[in-house]
Amino acid sequence: MEIKVITGDIAQIEADAIVVNLFEDTTQPGGATAAVDKALGGAISSLINRGETKGKFGEINIIHTFGKPRQVGAEIVAIVGLGKLQDFNTDKIRGVAGEFCRALRKLNCHKIATILHGTGTGGIQPETSAQAITEGALLGLYSFNKYKKPEYEDIEEMLIVARESGKIPILEQATHKGSVVAEATNLARDMINEPANYMTPSRLAEAAEEIANKYNLEFHVFDSADMEAMGMGALLGVAKGSGQPPKLITLSYKGDEHSEKAIGFLGKGITFDSGGISIKPSEGMDEMKGDMAGAAAVMTALVAIARLKPQINVTAIIPATENLPSGTALKPGDILKAMNGKTIEVINTDAEGRLILADALSYAQKLGLSPLLDLATLTGACCVALGTLYSGIFSNNQNLADKVLKAAERIGERMWQMPMPEEYKEQLKSEIADVKNIGHKYGGAITAALFLSEFVDNTPWVHIDIAGTANSEKESGYIVKGATGIGVRTLVELASSEAKNQEAT
Ligand code: BES
Ligand code: ZN
Ligand code: ZN
Repeated sequence: MEIKVITGDIAQIEADAIVVNLFEDTTQPGGATAAVDKALGGAISSLINRGETKGKFGEINIIHTFGKPRQVGAEIVAIVGLGKLQDFNTDKIRGVAGEFCRALRKLNCHKIATILHGTGTGGIQPETSAQAITEGALLGLYSFNKYKKPEYEDIEEMLIVARESGKIPILEQATHKGSVVAEATNLARDMINEPANYMTPSRLAEAAEEIANKYNLEFHVFDSADMEAMGMGALLGVAKGSGQPPKLITLSYKGDEHSEKAIGFLGKGITFDSGGISIKPSEGMDEMKGDMAGAAAVMTALVAIARLKPQINVTAIIPATENLPSGTALKPGDILKAMNGKTIEVINTDAEGRLILADALSYAQKLGLSPLLDLATLTGACCVALGTLYSGIFSNNQNLADKVLKAAERIGERMWQMPMPEEYKEQLKSEIADVKNIGHKYGGAITAALFLSEFVDNTPWVHIDIAGTANSEKESGYIVKGATGIGVRTLVELASSEAKNQEAT
């Protein structure tokens, strides 16, 4: 979909549909909505008076403007509810954009025009609204069409109608940033939605190589012999049960040639998690094709970063393998030696993400990357603790955790910090090795994070558990069913805000 910023009177725009809005419980339309209401001879006011249009968040009312001559340029006027004024924020704009785009696509609209929602009484800056509308529209219209014909035709063009022409350049910059970030998120969704018979560790490496070629990034892939040489016994241990060769992938973006420093983004790349010998129940096991959501997020975050060009260096590290049972598979009770020399007693082969990340963390520190951020669909316990709206964040450095939380909030990804109490480390003590890979029944997301911390020295590090948020079972706002692409936007926002030229991005 092409997104253009124009100035003009929304009522006069020639398009299949125009979109105006209403806050909950407003009795009289204001701003552009009032102008359209007037052009329609008070049709919107009468819908409000009839109690048909309430302005509840996400509610969409359609007015067909049949009859000639029409007083407005479009045949369809959509009135979207922005919800209660006191609950309003930028993320609500993303949400309504996703909703109205899907609703208008269902009505066969190919060209739509919208006002800058929330910039009047909502108090949102026009450029913030333009970026949010762009993100919400592109994310909300996403569908995975590789194996099935799409249900609806695409909306080809969206016009964002601004009031002042002086704002056009800054609004265009905002829609550009919004499209880059949303397209990267949708690319992550594509990779995650792919079935595991397609998205193998080798294909993940190919995808990274394609990205590197297209966006001029540095790319490396290590195979099992390289891993052997580097002493990555934990990653190799998980890979033993699979017929697919494991890969350790790196992608580097250099935006600051004068600096040796680089941030490290690590992503769990289990292309299928059957649990291994500690096999999972069959119900819902298909969802474990998405156990590489962390890997996809860090890879596509680099795509967005390469396009936005912040003055900063970033390297993504992706340990990738399947976790399958077989005659050669890792067994409960086996002991693995990780790259940092620590021995791990594997009590449960289904706690495999932390094993592959252990070696990836050691490798990231060997490269001197700092700070480190890892994204992983790590524990079912994190879904139990926080549900499907919040990712769990864990850190050894509060300053870094605060930066990540703030970046996430700015961009509308919900995260909640979890504690890492020393006392729980007891649970990871093994009789015969340095650590074991699982703790007790309770607090499993925390013991998983504490396990990872065994492989981080003094480097500031944040671990984000996205097990509950990486996949959605329902469509809502800019979230559609399937992979959400969670994490991409926060990583891009963090890299942009940490960059030297942050004003420019
Ligand atoms: N990939 C899973 C975690 C997961 C669960 C992701 C649900 C997405 C949705 C992970 O490898 C796993 O199996 N974790 C175990 C750990 C347990 C054995 C300590 C879990 O959460 O049950
Ligand atoms: Zn597992
Ligand atoms: Zn897993």
